[in-house]
Amino acid sequence: MTLHDHAERLRALPFRTILSVRAATKPLSAAGWNVDLSRHYLDTDANAALFAFADDMKLKTAIDQLFDGEMVNPSEGRAALHWALRASESKGETVREIRQSVVDAETLAQEIAWSSRKGATGERFKAVVHIGIGGSDFGPRLIADAFEDRRRDDIELRYCANLDPLDLELALKGLDPAQTLIVGVSKSFGTEETLYNLGRARDWVKASIPKGWSKHFALITANRERAIDWLDGADGLILHMPETIGGRFSIWSAGSLACSIALQSDVMEDFRAGAEAMDQHVATADVADNLAIRLALLDYWNATILGFGARALLAYSRRLRLLPAYLQQLEMESNGKSVRPDGRPVSGPTAPLLWGGEGTIGQHSYHQWLHQSPSMVPAEFILAPGETSDTDGVTGLTAHALAQAEVLANGRSLADVQADEPDLPLEIAAQKVHAGGRPSTILHAPRLNPYRLGSLIALYEHRTYLAGKLWGLNSFDQWGVERGKTMAGRLKPALRGERQASDAITAKLIAAIRS
Ligand code: F6P
Repeated sequence: MTLHDHAERLRALPFRTILSVRAATKPLSAAGWNVDLSRHYLDTDANAALFAFADDMKLKTAIDQLFDGEMVNPSEGRAALHWALRASESKGETVREIRQSVVDAETLAQEIAWSSRKGATGERFKAVVHIGIGGSDFGPRLIADAFEDRRRDDIELRYCANLDPLDLELALKGLDPAQTLIVGVSKSFGTEETLYNLGRARDWVKASIPKGWSKHFALITANRERAIDWLDGADGLILHMPETIGGRFSIWSAGSLACSIALQSDVMEDFRAGAEAMDQHVATADVADNLAIRLALLDYWNATILGFGARALLAYSRRLRLLPAYLQQLEMESNGKSVRPDGRPVSGPTAPLLWGGEGTIGQHSYHQWLHQSPSMVPAEFILAPGETSDTDGVTGLTAHALAQAEVLANGRSLADVQADEPDLPLEIAAQKVHAGGRPSTILHAPRLNPYRLGSLIALYEHRTYLAGKLWGLNSFDQWGVERGKTMAGRLKPALRGERQASDAITAKLIAAIRS
């Protein structure tokens, strides 16, 4: 039987029938996380077919290739060595060099945090402004937001990513340049948004510190030459971002310097240790027990075989409120593609639209759609409360997450509604019906600490790479984003009135904007 045959067989069954035997399935766990896949259109036979598919697609070999440093990014001719940034044991010279880039960043962070390195006027740094975008922004922003309660009291941390000038104005508002360190992160050192914001920040610092202004910048890049040019002959701190680290896989790198400075010193260490534990699990576990393989197979099953075009990520954890945005980049920039590395088109849907937010807040918004819209979208619950002495809040949060998953799956029939509320007019009762049949995954951890955030993100990285393999994609390039950048460059002269845009509708819009 093919995977499609299994899908057809399962689609013909009521979801409750599938679920009736799923309660006994073995939970999966690794590196502080438990994963429950019971509520999917899957059974033992369909899973067995998926495991055979994993073998056919050589997922275990793909994992070995990643950790052996083989060239898994063929279009750019590179290995993908983000895992080396969190490898405590050195596995050869390349890994040692990559690891050294982290050690250098951590050393610098401690010098800044403990004031052995100061600004040009001799004052200590009391504020850090991180400038970057995409993979050079989401990661540090996520960690700092997740562990806001582990920030050092004496260092302010701000972010700027947007080309909208207001973003930098707000990031610098009220700060004293003499006490501010600007951390500029750009792997390419050629990204328009980042260079624009860094340039304005340089003007801001130079206006008060014309001599020694460069002491107020730490630049993290793979393109040292461009960073040196940008410093224009001045001495500056330039940290290394290895070429083999993709932007959206760079959360472990020197690019998270701002977090290393502004958070308590053990946060980043524990974060990387959690990721390393997940690496070890993914590298060694069998197909059936391997969290990354199982989730990648699920992604293929839901998106390509069952045709679910989206997935909702529901983070029941205040610490994870930025996770949906982070994973959107990781998964959609990696696998939102339709052509294989050899130029042939893929045969079906690839990465689904990933969207979501923070539970329980989303329950007062789009969960209505999740429950009762005619469209059906698998939900992924991440249940990991923060550390707290208030058990009532944690119990409430947990109850809400579990209740949502249960209602999405089981629904509520008209008979159930009428049994509960016999006097209800039929038209109201009908509106209270929940169709059910909506699949969901639950990832849960007793509490969210830096170690578990690290292992969770490493899990999603591996899942993304392996799902990309199943779809036949190179997950490490992003040609789709380049076209928009080129086009924006071409339209600037039209917006300045220097020439006409070639597209008639764009030309009309520019005329309206200019008037
Ligand atoms: O959005 C495209 C992209 O290339 C991302 O992959 C990357 O994270 C981001 O731009 C920023 O790139 P850089 O670090 O080179 O400034």
